[in-house]
Amino acid sequence: GQSVAIFTSGGDSCGMNGALRASVRMAIYLGSQPYMIREGYQGMVEGGEHFVKAKWSSVSSIIHLGGTIIGSARCAEFMQREGRKKAAFNLVQRDINRLVVIGGDGSLTGANIFRQEWSGLLDELLAEGKITTQQREKYVDLHVVGVVGSIDNDFCGTDLTIGANTALHRITEAIDSIASTAYSHKRIFILEVMGRRCGFLAMITGIISEADYVFCPEAPPPMDWHDRLCEKLQKEGEGGQRLHIIIVAEGASDLNGEPITVEIVKKVILDKLKRESRITVLGHVQRGGATSAYDRILACRMGAEAVVAVLEATGNTTPVVVVLTNNQIERIPLMGAVERTQAANEALKSGDWAKAIALRGVF
Ligand code: F6P
Repeated sequence: GQSVAIFTSGGDSCGMNGALRASVRMAIYLGSQPYMIREGYQGMVEGGEHFVKAKWSSVSSIIHLGGTIIGSARCAEFMQREGRKKAAFNLVQRDINRLVVIGGDGSLTGANIFRQEWSGLLDELLAEGKITTQQREKYVDLHVVGVVGSIDNDFCGTDLTIGANTALHRITEAIDSIASTAYSHKRIFILEVMGRRCGFLAMITGIISEADYVFCPEAPPPMDWHDRLCEKLQKEGEGGQRLHIIIVAEGASDLNGEPITVEIVKKVILDKLKRESRITVLGHVQRGGATSAYDRILACRMGAEAVVAVLEATGNTTPVVVVLTNNQIERIPLMGAVERTQAANEALKSGDWAKAIALRGVF
């Protein structure tokens, strides 16, 4: 059978292990040899013991675990063509020309560049006498399938990325804990949540925690937000509300592109309302812990489909990314989705929020 390599790349997220498990087992079920590559692209470049032949039992008892058991790394070497050539050599040596990449848009972009260069890299390896003509012929195409693991839910073309649901649970648990202490002391809490350039986590947790105010990158507040925020807190306090939750997404800014941070919000409340508040930066707590039931099943579905897709691929197949659309697992062209994601990020940077929202189609 064919060999297929599976690896995780970029920031980890809960459910990556479930996707790995499903991919490995589907590969075995379909009669091919799965490899797991440790430490993402770094391991692919370094070779050696980073390539692990996987058995059915290699992925037992990991579906619930957060993070990624095979590690993930940012790899400067893979950004260079020389590094990618080393990676190509390491793959061909092990009869691998099929890859399942579990990662974010950066990792999937890297995979696509690799795929486009692949035959040229093999030509060079052949000229250097590192691979044989037979190997060059047999592995002339690199087949790549992406699975999106990210807590941010910032990838265009999928309703959800693997890990976002668990992160929502983590943030919700944290807010519930904070709410009980805030209630007791009639306090104002300002929470920073993750999401890089995407307000998904902030917006959803803001709604379900009855937050008083949410700041997120896609919807900068009116320039008089200082007054509006303080008036709201004042009014609701007078109405008997004992606790106040304000959620600030990392990456939030005002209409001029000036960052809105938890410290700035705290200062506004102190200056205008003369009220103390407390800040909690949830940080990486949001990215770890046990994987939610939803992310486990999403990971199973996506990981299994990715291997089916990569084993079906031929020289003419457009590389795909596995996504969730209306609760169905689908394959869509990888590069179209990556380009849309990057366009959405650019739109946010340039202040075209409506365009970013339209491209993402989330809110
Ligand atoms: O992309 C996932 C994420 O957790 C973002 O929400 C956050 O901005 C970033 O990664 C943090 O990166 P690091 O783990 O490298 O600090």
